Amino acid sequence: MTIKVTTIQEMQAIVKSLKKELKSIGLVPTMGALHDGHMTLMKRAQSENDVVIASVFVNPLQFGPNEDYDDYPRQIDQDQAFLADNGIDYVFAPSPEEMYSNPLQIQLTVGAMAQVLEGAKRPGHFDGVVTVVNKLFNIVQPDKAYFGKKDAQQLAIIEQMVIEMNHPIEIVGIDIVREADGLAKSSRNIYLTENERREAVALSQSLQVAKTLFDKGERNVEVIENAIKTFLTQHTAGIIDEVAIYSYPQLKQVEVIKSQVFISLAVKYSKARLIDNIILKDEQ
Ligand code: PAJ
Repeated sequence: MTIKVTTIQEMQAIVKSLKKELKSIGLVPTMGALHDGHMTLMKRAQSENDVVIASVFVNPLQFGPNEDYDDYPRQIDQDQAFLADNGIDYVFAPSPEEMYSNPLQIQLTVGAMAQVLEGAKRPGHFDGVVTVVNKLFNIVQPDKAYFGKKDAQQLAIIEQMVIEMNHPIEIVGIDIVREADGLAKSSRNIYLTENERREAVALSQSLQVAKTLFDKGERNVEVIENAIKTFLTQHTAGIIDEVAIYSYPQLKQVEVIKSQVFISLAVKYSKARLIDNIILKDEQ
């Protein structure tokens, strides 16, 4: 059984008694519409902690005015059943009113790390993410918290937040979980039309094209970016929103690949903007 908790006060009381019993707590923050990608984070959390708390909260602060906040899938009963089937102990599912005072007076902001990639495309997005994750960390006080590498910039920013805000929490990054054809699992995939779903495999395939070039010794960022763009243009009608190569986890722009970089993609379909990425490492 998964116990659903909707108030901060009740969650804090549960956390207090778990701490008294010296139980270690793993937190998996999500926005719900749970899929196997989320569940991989939960399974890892189960293997490393006495108790797992999943949070399900569609965080209004991290959506821009023209983004899909209203349309984002909300299915808490289904999510709770999925969590119960997988033996997750608690789901913390507060309302926006429970989480935020109105008007909100205090919010965290992210510096240069949020001025590139997804942060540049979605102004204010990462301020919203760190504000809610900071609150969740304060409420749940986990020993470890789990985040996917699908959102590689988010993971890097949260690791930095933990350092700068002095949270005594270990952040665990989990590899991207994919569908059989390579499409990264996402709560937004349900918005693809049949044809878009077929074509969306082009995102992960274009990253494999880049990896092949890289493995053959190509280190020029422009050459790799162009190869990705050409592949995407040929294989999907989706609109390319971003193809970028940055150092990781520093998130600085590079012209020639020297050490570890990550290639980030965003492609827009009629009702969903999909992202994917790959991390490439120069062995020399
Ligand atoms: P959400 O998009 O629901 O994702 C919750 C967590 O699951 C994130 O850490 C994300 O990277 C991870 N995840 C999603 N799809 C994945 C996949 N295919 N493979 C591996 N991990 C995957 O990310 C958020 O919510 C929010 O920004 C949140 C951190 C909850 C703050 O509101």
